[in-house]
Amino acid sequence: MRLNTKKIREDFPILKKKVYGKPLVYLDNAATTQKPRQVIQAMDSYYESYNSNVHRAVHKLSQEATQAYDDAHEKVAEFINAEGIEEIVFTKNTTESINIAANSLARHLKKGDEIVLTQMEHHSNIVPWQQAAKKAGAKLRYAEINNNGELDMQQLHSIISKNTKVVAFTHVSNVLGTINQAKEIVAAAKEAGAISVLDAAQSVPHMPVNVKELGCDFMAFSGHKMLGPTGTGVLYGRKEMLEKTEPMLYGGDMISEVSFEDAKWNELPWKLEAGTPNVAGAVGLAAAVDYLQKIGMENIHGHERMLTRIALKRLQGIKDVAVYGPKDAAKRGGLVAFNLNGAHPHDVSAFLDAAGIAVRGGHHCAMPLARLLGIAGSTRASFYLYNTAEEAEKFTETLEEIAAKLKKPTPIPESRK
Ligand SMILES: Cc1ncc(COP(=O)(O)O)c(C=O)c1O
Repeated sequence: MRLNTKKIREDFPILKKKVYGKPLVYLDNAATTQKPRQVIQAMDSYYESYNSNVHRAVHKLSQEATQAYDDAHEKVAEFINAEGIEEIVFTKNTTESINIAANSLARHLKKGDEIVLTQMEHHSNIVPWQQAAKKAGAKLRYAEINNNGELDMQQLHSIISKNTKVVAFTHVSNVLGTINQAKEIVAAAKEAGAISVLDAAQSVPHMPVNVKELGCDFMAFSGHKMLGPTGTGVLYGRKEMLEKTEPMLYGGDMISEVSFEDAKWNELPWKLEAGTPNVAGAVGLAAAVDYLQKIGMENIHGHERMLTRIALKRLQGIKDVAVYGPKDAAKRGGLVAFNLNGAHPHDVSAFLDAAGIAVRGGHHCAMPLARLLGIAGSTRASFYLYNTAEEAEKFTETLEEIAAKLKKPTPIPESRK
């Protein structure tokens, strides 16, 4: 089903904004997305009518807040087809979610064990594993990418062995756009007796993701990248896995009993959510899930594919533009990273910004990948459900103008001749 972007855009107050007198074209959705009125109002309503702490007091406001907070877990569980709220830990972002998993799994690693990552990971899915490996004396191994920006599946299978204890990988690359064959990789990890950790920061917001179908042990994603408020993220873990997961933070709400000497942990998921949580954030995230479900994840995925197809086609028509990742939009998420020969990505981003087009320039928190590609960084346009075909055209047309401008030699002022 085609998305009615005109109607959708009416829900996003910020999209009416003008920057430098020009209509805002927001194409930095891989970093964070804009929020619809429904999310903003849900949070306002929490603060205006039932703001309270959760899981503590018996008073009415606390009961209402607790109900809303627990319901938000339930909603997220349904969204990704988890068993129930005991498999859903609320965090502040993907980064925190992966850190919780890595911090706990690190305790079970020993010298000679191996952690398999891929060359296309975000720093959030590299650095926590580097630290885990250092602590345990374990080794990191990397699944390689081919010239098309896809994982070399043969090489990946060849590095998964009986020494592999963890396979942590991104579902969709935030630079190449590549959609990885998550089911196959999870199955390979399982066969080797390894635990799988899926970084779904760029997939859960954009396409249907079903944890039971994928079979992964852990999965991390960010609420703020799926119309939810900043400061919201999720760690999904199979119940059996979360039961074995050691908390990263200790304190209030995560305990069932405390003595002067020791403590017992609370039931799931609260054992992994120490301290007063982001209740307003949870309420906002629940509203975001409602919003996405109403539109339909398959429809959102199809819409982004259409925008990506437009962008890829036009970009490939510009001489001196290098596009990274698969050339086929069907193999990608809704983002396109590229370089304009000879121009720094920050300059390209600044030129686009001057036209009201918000993109991201830099290494996109994937420095090892940039080095592998032999680039300092790239400019990335990333789409979401509210972006239109006209915006994708405007972005590529503006880029064509920038490319033409940059090709002309800089005129020497008369005074310097
Ligand atoms: C693939 C991927 N993983 C992890 C992250 C980290 O997300 P957050 O900053 O919300 O923790 C990002 C953010 O851009 C990402 O794209």
